[in-house]
Amino acid sequence: MSVKLFAIALTLLFVLTGCSGDQVVVKDAPPAPPVELSGDDLSYRNEPLLTELGAPQTVFDAPDPGDSELAERSFENAPPVIPHNVDGLLPITGDENSCADCHLPEEAEDVGATPMPASHLYDIRRETQLEGLAGANYNCTQCHTPQANTTELVENTFSPYYRAKEQKERSNLLDILNEGVE
Ligand code: HEC
Ligand code: HEC
Repeated sequence: MSVKLFAIALTLLFVLTGCSGDQVVVKDAPPAPPVELSGDDLSYRNEPLLTELGAPQTVFDAPDPGDSELAERSFENAPPVIPHNVDGLLPITGDENSCADCHLPEEAEDVGATPMPASHLYDIRRETQLEGLAGANYNCTQCHTPQANTTELVENTFSPYYRAKEQKERSNLLDILNEGVE
């Protein structure tokens, strides 16, 4: 191969592989050693992450359901946080779901609770209206969290944007789910 051809071939190789002379990709390089951190090291509240036994379960001194003040939604269609205490309401089990007892639409009005939204009574995967609560929404506290009065461990600079004022206090996920798709 002539020197000229070799130079062209080399240039092409660099262009095609995106390599510059000092970035050599070593094939079969050994993986980086795992960083040895325990669950306790990773927890901001210094509680073992696997049990969360010491994690706060409720708002400090939060009023009972019926006496609390609703909090603004964190962003449009965010799951609202639980404003009341959850004393005696957790854990949710297969046989007992006190949250649903008050928040199912047919019960909510009588107790003055926000009724569950349409999305919780609909099987989104199979696009089917359900008679009752969707299984995917059974475990309320997976998404709705009790609040604790603690100091901010990491500064949060997020500022939400709502397309409509009502969405600060009401959700409509099922109505707008396919927005921009169809
Ligand atoms: C005894 C009835 C009752 C039970 C049980 C109950 N709630 Fe409530 N919940 C209410 C009422 C009433 C409100 C409205 C605020 C108030 O008056 O305290 C409310 C408010 C809420 C809100 C805020 C809704 C919004 O519009 O911002 C969420 C979220 C919520 N509850 C979730 C739960 C979850 C999760 C559970 C189970 C751990 C639960 N609730 C158990 C009655 C209840
Ligand atoms: C998989 C996550 C998830 C689970 C589980 C879940 N929710 Fe929600 N919830 C949401 C989201 C997201 C919204 C807001 C968007 C929407 O669905 O309309 C919401 C909204 C709500 C609202 C506000 C309704 C409104 O009109 O503004 C209530 C009340 C509520 N949920 C209660 C419950 C209760 C009670 C349970 C358990 C029986 C539950 N949710 C389980 C995610 C969840």
